[in-house]
Amino acid sequence: MSSILRRSSDRDATAPPAPLGVALYGCGTVGSGLVQVLRARESLAGRVSLDLLHVVVRDIAKRRAVAHPDGVLSRALLPPIDDPRVQIVVELIGGIEPAHTLIVHALNSGKHVISANKAVIAAHGAELESLAAQNRVLFKYGAAVGGAIPILHALRGPLRHEPVRSIRGIVNGTTNYILTQMAEQGTSFEAALASAQAHGFAEPDPFADVSGLDAAQKIVILARHAFGRWVSLDDVELTGIDRVSADDIRAAHAEGASLKLVADARMDGDRIRMKVAPALVSPNDPLYAIRNEMNAIVIDTEFSGSLVFAGPGAGAHPAGSAVFSDIAAVARRVAGRRGS
Ligand code: HSE
Repeated sequence: MSSILRRSSDRDATAPPAPLGVALYGCGTVGSGLVQVLRARESLAGRVSLDLLHVVVRDIAKRRAVAHPDGVLSRALLPPIDDPRVQIVVELIGGIEPAHTLIVHALNSGKHVISANKAVIAAHGAELESLAAQNRVLFKYGAAVGGAIPILHALRGPLRHEPVRSIRGIVNGTTNYILTQMAEQGTSFEAALASAQAHGFAEPDPFADVSGLDAAQKIVILARHAFGRWVSLDDVELTGIDRVSADDIRAAHAEGASLKLVADARMDGDRIRMKVAPALVSPNDPLYAIRNEMNAIVIDTEFSGSLVFAGPGAGAHPAGSAVFSDIAAVARRVAGRRGS
């Protein structure tokens, strides 16, 4: 039996609870942001403390935004998951492999998993959720969509009872940053993209952002929580901003509108229709005022009408904070089980 499932009567009731061991995979922009939030806010996790035991990276020698104690950094892929002290595995490496292999291994080893990896969740979310249920562990990925906006929490929690008609929004910070800089500063596409990369908003291969793929992965994940079922990424009608020109942006402006990359999922009979494409947004649309790396998501519901969620959609601290929120939720759950 995993130590988190041990009954409290098995332990000395007066002893402080053992810290929850965490293994972090990936220490780039989001990983470094998470470590900073972790160090600042660890006590918010609840009745348990957190111990960052392993940070697994591709290149140990690389200069990073955060330093780690000796022995924490490693390149070993699966051994940190097998460390019996580790109860939470945080996957922030992105892409399908080796992320999929390590998440499957962690769930099958009885470890809770937190991920911000849109690619692996959009492709394998159904399998990973079912593995988590089978192994009676948590699989959380609130940071995968909307950065710091707790949109998945809202859909899974307070809005769970609401029939959702449609969900629509700006879910990629990089493209919104590029379009804003081109429109407001006259910056070239290339210079705006380089700036988005320098700010840590873009994916390692920014074509995932500009092609609309990142937004498509996010609308698949949003659709799962809005409509209750997993849909295929192949079903998203996809157009990126790679062919958007300064002339297109000027033409939008001349019409009193703004050009945005908009992701949309809606029910059409029994079908879920999904689309990501540049769209003209008028000033009376809540998406019009969303600038730079900000994201916004508009949910049209049956009983509550239209709900708008907005906030920073990319960047080290907003994304790190969203990952921390999932870690804290797991820690509270573990503390609750220990106390029951
Ligand atoms: N590249 C992503 C974006 C990062 O720009 O939105 C956050 O998911």
